[in-house]
Amino acid sequence: MKAKQQSYNAHPIGSCQKLFIVGWMLALFFSSCSNNASHLSPIDTTGYVWYGWNHYQLKETDSAERYGYYLITNTAYYWGPKGKLSPISNGMNCQNCHLEAGIIPWGNNFSAVAATYPKFRERSGALESIEKRVNDCIERSLNGKAVDSASKEMKAIVAYLKWVGKEVPRGRKPKGSGIMDIPFLERAADATKGKKVFINNCQRCHGSNGEDQLNTEGYGYTYPPVWGGNSFNTGAGLYRVSKLAGYIKNNMPVNEASYLDPLLTDEEAWDVAAFIASQPRPVKKLTTDWPRLSAKPFDHPFGPYTDSFSEQQHKYGPFLPIVAAGGKRRI
Ligand code: HEC
Ligand code: HEC
Repeated sequence: MKAKQQSYNAHPIGSCQKLFIVGWMLALFFSSCSNNASHLSPIDTTGYVWYGWNHYQLKETDSAERYGYYLITNTAYYWGPKGKLSPISNGMNCQNCHLEAGIIPWGNNFSAVAATYPKFRERSGALESIEKRVNDCIERSLNGKAVDSASKEMKAIVAYLKWVGKEVPRGRKPKGSGIMDIPFLERAADATKGKKVFINNCQRCHGSNGEDQLNTEGYGYTYPPVWGGNSFNTGAGLYRVSKLAGYIKNNMPVNEASYLDPLLTDEEAWDVAAFIASQPRPVKKLTTDWPRLSAKPFDHPFGPYTDSFSEQQHKYGPFLPIVAAGGKRRI
């Protein structure tokens, strides 16, 4: 499995470390978003890894940024089924997936957002603003209704995202951004094995039915749902098994695992992701997604495709033949 070390430190540039800006603005590295090295290689997690501003550094006067922070950490309070503003979402918080409001390395962090948007995205086939990208998550991950881009709330979320990423140079994607691409397995991810992983490591919080557990105030979840009616829908990024596996490997169980000290092996992460993805959840019609078929990611579970692999193989793998046949990048 362990092939050559993947070169991820393609662009050595300045620091975006913020907590303690001492004189070590050297040897800090940003990754390139391309991924053309061996797909079996482990990710290099050494050297500089981005870790964002801590929310305690938000000034009282930064009212928009602070409001954005609250909306991201406690989304259900504002937009959940019992939301104070309007009931437009499934009751999950942005933070359920963007840990600690998007500052944790490979915790689906927001480091690249301010520096890379607006950007062209193949999923929509359009140039996307930050607002459009946030609404994507609202409509898919929160299985909700898009928010007006001119609203105070959207402006606040964008202000927070810009604040978090403000030291990242334009166009750069810091190392630790988003979700880690973990090495492919030679075989398909196995939902039956994954169920055992889930029972042993996840069920104590996420429940035997993957269900949500309401918080004591009753408006949001102490443990967010990983499948079922209140979970993210089939159009969400996390529904793709590679994203789910990468997220779980480096972040779950919450507060017990990190990219430096993961609990699950790669195999267990792929298998438990397959198990979660095999369970029912809200369906989102995807007819306008991926207008350029050849740009569909290798693990997009819905056809049509430009290759002849089945939906089943695109969902669970084995992915290596798909990637080899199509020359697809991991996106
Ligand atoms: C169910 C999990 C989930 C929830 C909840 C969620 N997101 Fe996301 N979000 C994702 C995933 C997965 C990605 C894509 C990450 C990747 O491709 O590496 C993403 C990507 C993003 C991006 C683009 C990041 C980038 O670097 O391009 C932004 C901005 C974003 N989300 C904002 C939000 C906001 C704001 C909310 C709440 C309103 C939210 N998300 C809720 C899972 C979620
Ligand atoms: C100690 C309790 C605990 C354990 C054990 C745990 N999780 Fe979580 N999980 C959480 C919490 C809490 C969150 C939301 C984090 C936040 O909001 O800061 C979460 C978030 C998630 C999410 C993203 C949000 C969602 O609902 O889709 C996924 C996926 C997930 N967990 C999967 C797993 C898997 C798989 C395991 C087992 C390997 C696991 N978790 C183990 C508590 C736990």
